[in-house]
Amino acid sequence: MAQPAILTGDGSPTLFHRTVGEHYHSLSGAHLEARQRFIEPCRVIRTARVRGQIRILDIGFGLGTNLGWAVHDIQRAAPGAAIEIVSLERDLLPGDQLKLFFRALPQARLSVMLKRLVEERRWIEEGLQLTLLVGDAEQLIDSLEGRFDAVFLDPFSPKLNPGPWRADFLRAVRNRMVEGGILSTYSSARRVRLSLLRSGWQIGCGPAVGMKSSGTLASAGSVQPPLPPLDAKLQRKLARQMCSGQEEDLDE
Ligand SMILES: C[S@@+](CC[C@H](N)C(=O)[O-])C[C@H]1O[C@@H](n2cnc3c(N)ncnc32)[C@H](O)[C@@H]1O
Repeated sequence: MAQPAILTGDGSPTLFHRTVGEHYHSLSGAHLEARQRFIEPCRVIRTARVRGQIRILDIGFGLGTNLGWAVHDIQRAAPGAAIEIVSLERDLLPGDQLKLFFRALPQARLSVMLKRLVEERRWIEEGLQLTLLVGDAEQLIDSLEGRFDAVFLDPFSPKLNPGPWRADFLRAVRNRMVEGGILSTYSSARRVRLSLLRSGWQIGCGPAVGMKSSGTLASAGSVQPPLPPLDAKLQRKLARQMCSGQEEDLDE
């Protein structure tokens, strides 16, 4: 039986995944998280304005919230920029279950767009190309062509859903980035940060969003302005662990 939607702190809906035992979004706000955790820190509007185009890799399509808001915010703030987003999803929910979440997006046309994307796995209009690949991101990553400016890394938590947090997967993602491309994730687990460092990313502190004090940002090479630095003590600890090869428990 389909799970009922749950209202988060900003009034937007999410879902509880019974098998995994986690919600699809922060209970502080699903829409808040899309914008403050993924869209803003990945600097996608700036990239779209400066380059006139942007390519985003959306890992964990879920309920389409990050994707819908990314299209909305970039089209509004960088009109005319060419947007391409590739979403990866292992367990795509049926369209009937997703429609409530699509309808909660800020414009009706986004709901139409996402519904069609789920049905046909592709949406193309002038200046916008969306592709939904259904399968395991760890397998799909090798089939992706071209390079990305931004990555929304949003699987379930590392403890319950470890695959997309492993260094070999994160290295494959890193290899598909433009220089200066940015990844954002909600996890601040030390193990995830070590995986990112070991796979060639530079890392920084992600913003506090709702009840969560920080996440992690990572860049392919250096970026201007630089990523917000991690706390100095933590940086030293990570550097020591990098040298020793010591692992951490998946603590989040
Ligand atoms: C936290 S939810 C993502 C929420 C989504 N970003 C949104 O905006 O609605 C995590 C999603 O990642 C998907 N996922 C987890 N592991 C995956 C994998 N290895 N490959 C592809 N998708 C995966 C799950 O099926 C789930 O839909």
